[in-house]
Amino acid sequence: MALKTAVLAAFLSVLNLCLPISAVIQESLLALPRVSYEFIIVGGGTAGCVLANRLSENPKWNVLVLEAGPSHENILNSQVPPYVFRLQNTSYDWNYTSTPQAALGGRPVALPRGHPLGGSSSINGMFYTRGSSSDYDRWATVTGDPGWSWRWTKPADNHDTMGQYDPRAHSKTGITSVSLPGFPDAIDTKVAEASEQLGGEFAWNTDTNNGDSLGIGWLQLTIGNGERSSSATSYLAPKYLNRKNLHVLVNSRVTKLVQTSPGNKPSGLESIRQVLPVQPKPACSFHAVRTVIARKEVILSAVALGTPQILMLSGIGDPTELRGLGIEPKINLPSVGKNLTDQPQVALTWALGINGHLRSVSDSSLLSPRRAADPTLPDKWLEEWKTNRTGPLTFNNVNSIAWTRLPDDSPIYERFSDPSSGRNTPQLEIGIVGTGYYPTPGRLILTSAVVATPHSQFDIYGVREAIRTSRRFFAGPTWEEYNITLQPPFDTDVDSELDAVIKATVFSASHPVGSASMSPKNAPWGVVDPDLKVKKTTGLRIVDASIMPFITCAHTQAPVYAIAERAADLIKESWK
Ligand SMILES: Cc1cc2nc3c(=O)[nH]c(=O)nc-3n(C[C@H](O)[C@H](O)[C@H](O)COP(=O)(O)OP(=O)(O)OC[C@H]3O[C@@H](n4cnc5c(N)ncnc54)[C@H](O)[C@@H]3O)c2cc1C
Ligand SMILES: *[C@@H]1O[C@H](CO)[C@@H](O)[C@H](O)[C@H]1NC(C)=O
Ligand SMILES: *[C@@H]1O[C@H](CO)[C@@H](O)[C@H](O)[C@H]1NC(C)=O
Ligand SMILES: *[C@@H]1O[C@H](CO)[C@@H](O)[C@H](O)[C@H]1NC(C)=O
Ligand SMILES: *[C@@H]1O[C@H](CO)[C@@H](O)[C@H](O)[C@H]1NC(C)=O
Ligand SMILES: *[C@@H]1O[C@H](CO)[C@@H](O)[C@H](O)[C@H]1NC(C)=O
Repeated sequence: MALKTAVLAAFLSVLNLCLPISAVIQESLLALPRVSYEFIIVGGGTAGCVLANRLSENPKWNVLVLEAGPSHENILNSQVPPYVFRLQNTSYDWNYTSTPQAALGGRPVALPRGHPLGGSSSINGMFYTRGSSSDYDRWATVTGDPGWSWRWTKPADNHDTMGQYDPRAHSKTGITSVSLPGFPDAIDTKVAEASEQLGGEFAWNTDTNNGDSLGIGWLQLTIGNGERSSSATSYLAPKYLNRKNLHVLVNSRVTKLVQTSPGNKPSGLESIRQVLPVQPKPACSFHAVRTVIARKEVILSAVALGTPQILMLSGIGDPTELRGLGIEPKINLPSVGKNLTDQPQVALTWALGINGHLRSVSDSSLLSPRRAADPTLPDKWLEEWKTNRTGPLTFNNVNSIAWTRLPDDSPIYERFSDPSSGRNTPQLEIGIVGTGYYPTPGRLILTSAVVATPHSQFDIYGVREAIRTSRRFFAGPTWEEYNITLQPPFDTDVDSELDAVIKATVFSASHPVGSASMSPKNAPWGVVDPDLKVKKTTGLRIVDASIMPFITCAHTQAPVYAIAERAADLIKESWK
């Protein structure tokens, strides 16, 4: 059965009391000029804004973006890079938590998701990491479409810092800004020195985004001019938003897809029933539900958690499961919502024994980076950031990153095969947060230990080994003068003790992918074909993190930007 789609959306409508937030981002359903559009993009997130921009390049195509959250404009905590952690559990976060995790003793884990325009790119950590070439080559192999291979994935970024990256791996014409950390930390030279001394797994890699990501190098960040560059600030910059054929509606949560009449006439308008709660706005809002029509395509870009939800609410999924939820099954696609993959991580604290005494661990906080004895400093830094976009608030406090593999003779391979896509692909990631001081170091270093290639039982072994890898790094001779000690609860090297601590503290790297995976065209599994069209439907594509058949050995925003850019090309090609 083929399903022609339109979108049934729950809108927050605005009465006269509420003014539009900007001339071009609409809060009001009443401001929408039309009922039908060539393309309707569900979710104005990382991928959604890219598509909005690229598809509206054609002035003949009216493009509508429906975003559940508010506008991204004027959110200081989103703009100032190190304020990122102030965004979780606010109205800019969907506040998801997982079900109780049996392997973690029944503990649920938090799954933050971006809720303003720009989606997760408006609240994420700004790490710009692509993964290895073989990650993309594996997508090409699994889907049978060579177009997904690394070779064809064009870079889409800008760089402004010279000498600390490989210019051959980057373009200068991209829309989103990518830059190197704009402010030094006292340990930067130590990190480089440790790499030189230790070599091997810690060998220096000038640019871990050039396809071969193994080694240690400077982190690249989606920051431009000292402030966050999100898909909303970049791809929906005013010059694009001013396009007459681009319509962006915020506070509009899509509830489901409905089938329209064969001619795609707006006949679904009366069949409006379902309203999901939309964030109330005092005194000036009410909920209204409308259907809008896509003449060409509906594109779901509601992230790996939202996209399968919308599909299931629309009757697309495993029929038995849908019936169990009281939803009438329409299209049998049992892979919807399956194979969700995320990377586990733990946070380690290291004390520096300089100046004779240690700063207490409870004193450490990513919320107040670079805190010093002078309590007026944070205000001064903000003043400097506001005036000049310079100083300690211009980056996310992570200057360097290490990508490593287990040794080839690791005993784990007796039980499991290598979950990575290839030998140039890291399995483990160590992110190094500076001490927050310059030129003399502060008294704490924070690191993250992440399994970049998660795979069921591999994970706990991987986290353990990532912790041990971090220990090896700080045992390097250059660190001796700092007398660095790993703080509780990770100050043990006993497997069983480490496992207990990992289970008690591990959290999500916030990289859920794979819940509406690509698969070869006639495969019995998967949700979308390699051209991202939803199987067994017409007029419906998925373009977001959910289509990855395997997670990249990386943070996931750069891969999502690449997916969205390629998707825009595919869509343009098919409507030529
Ligand atoms: C806290 C956090 C930190 C992260 N840190 C990093 C990092 O440092 N580096 C990195 O590379 N990656 C990071 N990530 C991951 C990365 O940001 C995501 O993988 C990527 O942005 C996902 O893009 P997307 O387009 O799939 O989804 P999103 O960007 O999340 O966009 C989905 C959009 O759809 C909207 N939406 C959802 N449901 C509906 C609906 N029913 N109706 C209308 N709209 C809807 C959402 O509000 C959102 O705007 C982080 C993520 C989080 C949450
Ligand atoms: C957000 O809330 C969840 C659930 O209550 C909690 O587990 C998590 O630690 C909170 N996150 C932050 C950054 O406060
Ligand atoms: C997330 O939780 C915060 C704190 O409880 C709340 O203010 C916010 O509205 C929630 N976000 C959404 C999208 O509902
Ligand atoms: C999960 O992904 C694998 C490929 O990695 C695939 O073989 C399997 O069929 C998928 N499962 C579902 C339910 O889609
Ligand atoms: C901004 O930069 C100018 C020129 O370098 C400098 O004089 C001024 O003090 C700076 N302002 C702040 C608030 O740092
Ligand atoms: C190093 O730190 C440890 C733990 O704080 C402390 O016991 C030890 O005395 C320190 N060593 C030196 C040489 O300062």
